[in-house]
Amino acid sequence: MLSAKLAAFPRVIVELGMGDGRLLESLAKSDPRCLHIGVELDAEQCNNASSRLALDNVLVVNRSFEELIPEFANGSVERFVEVLPDPAYIDEKKSEKWKPLYALAYQKLRRGGTFQIVTELTDELLQPVGDSEFTRWKEWLTSTFSSLGFVISGVHEGAPAHYATRCLDQFRGDSERIRLVTLDLAKQ
Ligand SMILES: C[S@@+](CC[C@H](N)C(=O)[O-])C[C@H]1O[C@@H](n2cnc3c(N)ncnc32)[C@H](O)[C@@H]1O
Repeated sequence: MLSAKLAAFPRVIVELGMGDGRLLESLAKSDPRCLHIGVELDAEQCNNASSRLALDNVLVVNRSFEELIPEFANGSVERFVEVLPDPAYIDEKKSEKWKPLYALAYQKLRRGGTFQIVTELTDELLQPVGDSEFTRWKEWLTSTFSSLGFVISGVHEGAPAHYATRCLDQFRGDSERIRLVTLDLAKQ
């Protein structure tokens, strides 16, 4: 199924952890010539996404990132998008565990391809996140992803205004205690 779909489209965008698929739906509708693959471990979320996404240029995959990403040929992916990854894939203390996954995704990107991550910083005691802590965290994200080979093309507070996901819709309501950042990465 994956290889047949890949052969039918000139470009592929992969959303990691797509949840209920509402972002994938809007991305796929705005670019019908590109295949949009959403990968999600949770079967119930995948069912929600499948019922929402009856589009030819969408493939919903109920598997783990670790299983799916190796199946793409090196240099074949146009773009990865990941909105609010679980801490297991972005937390500073766990970085040695998750770095290999992003290093692999980098190999799968074509030259000029991009990887966008929207992630959040919260205080352990759920107090408002101060500017100095937020700045330090952005610098850490930048240096970590640079060390994996990515070029940093943007680091912006907040999420893209036109993005809607189940979690983003919740987090945007608490912007002092949950500070969002969008990291735009590229492969040169
Ligand atoms: C915090 S949620 C965000 C969901 C969605 N992007 C949103 O913004 O509403 C993270 C999602 O990643 C999925 N996930 C976590 N680890 C995964 C893995 N190894 N492979 C595939 N999906 C995974 C979870 O099931 C969950 O739906």
